[in-house]
Amino acid sequence: MEKLHAGILGTGHAYPEGILTNAELEKTVETSDEWITTRTGIKQRRKAAPGEYTSLFAVRAARQAIERAKIDPLEIDLLLCATVTPDQILPSTGCIIQAELGANKAAAMDIVAACSGFLYGLTLADAMIRTGQSRYALVIGAEILTQYVDYTDRGTCILFGDGAGAAVLGPVEGDQGILAARIRSDGRYLEQLFSPGGGTRRPASAETLAAGDHYFKMKGNELFKVAVRSMSEISNEVLEEAGQRAEDVSLFIPHQANQRITDAVASKLKVEEARVYSNIAMHGNTSSASIPIALDECVEAGRIKKGDLVLLASFGGGVTWGGVLLRW
Ligand code: ACO
Repeated sequence: MEKLHAGILGTGHAYPEGILTNAELEKTVETSDEWITTRTGIKQRRKAAPGEYTSLFAVRAARQAIERAKIDPLEIDLLLCATVTPDQILPSTGCIIQAELGANKAAAMDIVAACSGFLYGLTLADAMIRTGQSRYALVIGAEILTQYVDYTDRGTCILFGDGAGAAVLGPVEGDQGILAARIRSDGRYLEQLFSPGGGTRRPASAETLAAGDHYFKMKGNELFKVAVRSMSEISNEVLEEAGQRAEDVSLFIPHQANQRITDAVASKLKVEEARVYSNIAMHGNTSSASIPIALDECVEAGRIKKGDLVLLASFGGGVTWGGVLLRW
């Protein structure tokens, strides 16, 4: 029997209008456009205005993806929202999005896997579609990270931005769709990127707020090395599993964490610059939204055509990482 694949049928993305430039950050912390550009590649990032929240952009991205996939929201039977910045603790942001979309026949939930969340979602949706549990899945990565950024900490405040991206998956024929998908995590590195306050361990209080415990704390240079190693290894694993080589990859879309991480991974994989997509200059690091935003930008720009081999790789807090290889 021919192997059933899950493929991406439509993509979308959305982000706030507000822009935070390096020049503006220069005015608030001890940094410079030159430092940020050479160390990260970032020139600007999107920043939500007060009153803008995660599901607002998730719904816009999802509507675009559903329209392009040419399906009805009622046909979606799995809705996965990857986010570390939910609208609220209860219910899941997935359920909030579901209500907005009228996707009332789906099982909706959130995935918490930081920057790898979207690839976790693709991997789970792929498995559900291949086993026949689901037919159409909506996978979203959406974040308002700027609400958890300490704008007095120059090590983190320069990096993060806001936005959302989405993809509709469904069964595809022939050798199209997801050829290999792998996700991993290692909780031993959890303190390399975390926010200690606001949960049951350190409930939100005047003290935790004053101490800034709800903000992201990051050991950036330690994460850097683990990120390069993990993304390179998992990319090679999915290539090997699918019987493909790095030279066959038409487009490599890594998680947009830092231009130097992207360059180091691409160099290890021997994928030259022309086959690597980067939008870090315009968006910074949008965590789980980074890969779906980048993917949709590539689709809109005509950088992906039918039959192309597309490699996605991610790394994030947890630590978590993942790789997905698909034939467009
Ligand atoms: N402006 C000027 N100087 C700075 C800044 C800044 N914005 N930030 C740090 N520095 C200083 C440091 O204080 C340090 O000074 P010192 O030498 O006097 O102590 C010096 O620059 C070097 O600091 P490093 O942290 O070693 O700088 P590095 O080159 O590693 O760059 C960065 C820092 C950009 C954070 C990088 O480490 C990085 O991108 N790491 C990976 C981040 C990541 O991938 N996170 C995981 C995914 S995100 C997610 O899951 C949500």
